[in-house]
Amino acid sequence: ETDPSVVRLREGDAPGTRVRVLGRVHRLRQQKDVIFLTLTDGYGQLQCVLTGDLIRTYAALTLTLETSLSIHGEMRVVPPQQRAPLDRELHADFFSIIGVAAGDKEAITTRVPKDADPQTLYDNRHLVLRGDTAASVLKVRAGALRAFRQTFQEERLLEVTPPCMVQTQVEGGSTLFSFDYYGQTAYLTQSSQLYLETCLPSLGDVFCVAPSFRAEKSLTRRHLSEYTHIEGELDFITFADLLEHLEKIICRVIELILQDPQMAALVRELNPGFKPPSRPFRRMKYADAIDWLVQHNIPNDDGQPHSFGDDIAEAAERKMTDILNVPIFLTHFPVEIKAFYMKKDDSDRRVTESVDVLMPGVGEIVGGSMRMENYDELMEAYKREGIGSEPYYWYTDQRKYGTSPHGGYGLGLERFLAWMCGRYTVRECCLYPRFTGRCTP
Ligand code: 4AD
Ligand code: MG
Repeated sequence: ETDPSVVRLREGDAPGTRVRVLGRVHRLRQQKDVIFLTLTDGYGQLQCVLTGDLIRTYAALTLTLETSLSIHGEMRVVPPQQRAPLDRELHADFFSIIGVAAGDKEAITTRVPKDADPQTLYDNRHLVLRGDTAASVLKVRAGALRAFRQTFQEERLLEVTPPCMVQTQVEGGSTLFSFDYYGQTAYLTQSSQLYLETCLPSLGDVFCVAPSFRAEKSLTRRHLSEYTHIEGELDFITFADLLEHLEKIICRVIELILQDPQMAALVRELNPGFKPPSRPFRRMKYADAIDWLVQHNIPNDDGQPHSFGDDIAEAAERKMTDILNVPIFLTHFPVEIKAFYMKKDDSDRRVTESVDVLMPGVGEIVGGSMRMENYDELMEAYKREGIGSEPYYWYTDQRKYGTSPHGGYGLGLERFLAWMCGRYTVRECCLYPRFTGRCTP
């Protein structure tokens, strides 16, 4: 008899057929006459039932979680009253071990203990990834990337891939990672925005999905040293256009993710309370947010009542977002607390045409603005911020050769996922998190 063909755990599993499955032991229940094991292969899971002579072998008696196996058997329908967790199971007639798993880390790989020390979990991230929750988040992450790319295609933004090694700052010098570049100082990019702006004249609206790097000094649940930055830049627009585009992008991405039944199930499992946002998002000016914070007795980071010009720090922002409990466009931040390139509001020169998108549970997930399109004003802004203009000649040139009203935004993918998947920290939303003090595994 020839070997039955190998099937992935979600396909080809018609009842009655004899198949061969390959995977790892995800759950294991050993009884006197029967072994139930749940096999996983990254596509799906399948309960396999071993009986008779099969379970009296040394291999069966010493089976451990994560051991990789090949199992032959017949696929059978499970009677409805026993359906846990699936409606199919494999009745094994032969199995062989491919790779034994040492039994010492079972707790980490399958059920993360409630009292697990976070450092141990981060050290063992490669094994934690084998758990259901971590795998689900990474699958939604892939679905989100797919949805963003499809949405950008629908909106006719072209994908470009800017460099990560740069010689200019975008979001302030204090969070730059620097390194030696053939004897010169270079940095890891904080944002691809300035490069995206240079693409507009010949490519039209553009986007990129690229890592951004921030040497953050603080350990918070939403700051990474390396994160995936989804950035878009749009030409010949107004600030109102930018807000409308952002709403549309976010809602469409959510819609696309949830249209996929597998994704919808994963999101439901991870975050049962998730409600897709509805348009229009609530709009709130920075100045009104300051008033709101004062009225609600939410102090600034120095413990003082907020006043105009204060940064709205993470704690206050999160409290406000959680109380309002809807997506918010926070707009018109003061010039002093925002980046050099942001365009001033014509009707109030103290503030910029800027926007943060705030989501309940996380706070800021997007930062965007209209850009200074006037040459003299930009030169003035470099001076105000104490930035030497020479390294920016290529950026400044955009204002010399056919300038235009334009704007864009950056969305932190891990923050988007923390919101959508209801995760406590962005560290759960990437493959191998990088944050203050951690660069392994
Ligand atoms: O608000 P930020 O700093 O804006 C920019 O970088 C703009 N140049 C983007 C643009 O207009 N093209 O960062 C944008 C977003 C934030 O809203 C946040 O979601 C995410 O990037 N982000 C971080 N995510 C994780 N860890 C960090 N340290 C992050 N810093 C920013
Ligand atoms: Mg920001």
